[in-house]
Amino acid sequence: MSDNVAPAPLPRHIAITMDGNGRWAAARGLARSAGHKAGLEPVRLCVRECSRLGVEALTLFAFSSENWSRPAEEVASLMGLFFEAIEREISDLERQGVVLRIIGHRQALSVRLQAQIAAAEARTAGNTGLKLQVAVSYGGRWDIVQAARTLAAQCVSGALPVAAIDETRFAAALELGTLPDPDLLIRTGAERRISNFLLWNLAYAELYFCDRLWPDFDAAELERALAFFAGRERRFGHTGGQLGAAPKAVP
Ligand code: IPE
Ligand code: IPE
Ligand code: MG
Repeated sequence: MSDNVAPAPLPRHIAITMDGNGRWAAARGLARSAGHKAGLEPVRLCVRECSRLGVEALTLFAFSSENWSRPAEEVASLMGLFFEAIEREISDLERQGVVLRIIGHRQALSVRLQAQIAAAEARTAGNTGLKLQVAVSYGGRWDIVQAARTLAAQCVSGALPVAAIDETRFAAALELGTLPDPDLLIRTGAERRISNFLLWNLAYAELYFCDRLWPDFDAAELERALAFFAGRERRFGHTGGQLGAAPKAVP
């Protein structure tokens, strides 16, 4: 970030849809997998900057439920990249005090990748820094359905009365659990859609769309996103007049 001073207020939780890797590669006459590989550097940058600025949580959309429909070769290269990235980055993440968690349908991943994820999560679980969620095989609809199943099973077993299901309890059964909702969603790659990301949790996120392709995302673009966020008046359904000097969060 240019002068080390972040625009205020900062989001507590930033979510990013990292889109545009394929187009970045195609523009250079490279295979799509080269774009995915190049997308690692902005991931490092965002983790470093969010840690430095004191952002509480960062959630990155790396692979959606729908991305399984891509050509088998691309899926295989992405899975290989996740494995390598965890292997290569885990020490650095640990050094930065990051708590790493993979969210999504992990049973859909290879046993080898699942084991590596479990080991990486265990290694960083005791840290106290940035909470980093990486969404792999993640879909917002899948997330809601699995939460509904969890709660339904508790109701059937008699552990949970139906009437005890409220928004707080439902949210706790989702992948993000008790983390605060993302305040800011950044999507690169010039598309202006949600693409089945955190459907429940993005209810009141500020949406920042930029044309930059993900491998070109840099500190200046992150700063623009933070400045955009700092300039929003978050009303959560209230009128502007009700907010007074200090905007309130949802009651
Ligand atoms: C985002 O980039 C990465 C994944 C979805 C895995 P894309 O691969 O979607 O890149 P474009 O949108 O085709 O350029
Ligand atoms: C969204 O990008 C998913 C990720 C960035 C992981 P896509 O490229 O899959 O989204 P669509 O298909 O353009 O909506
Ligand atoms: Mg895309």
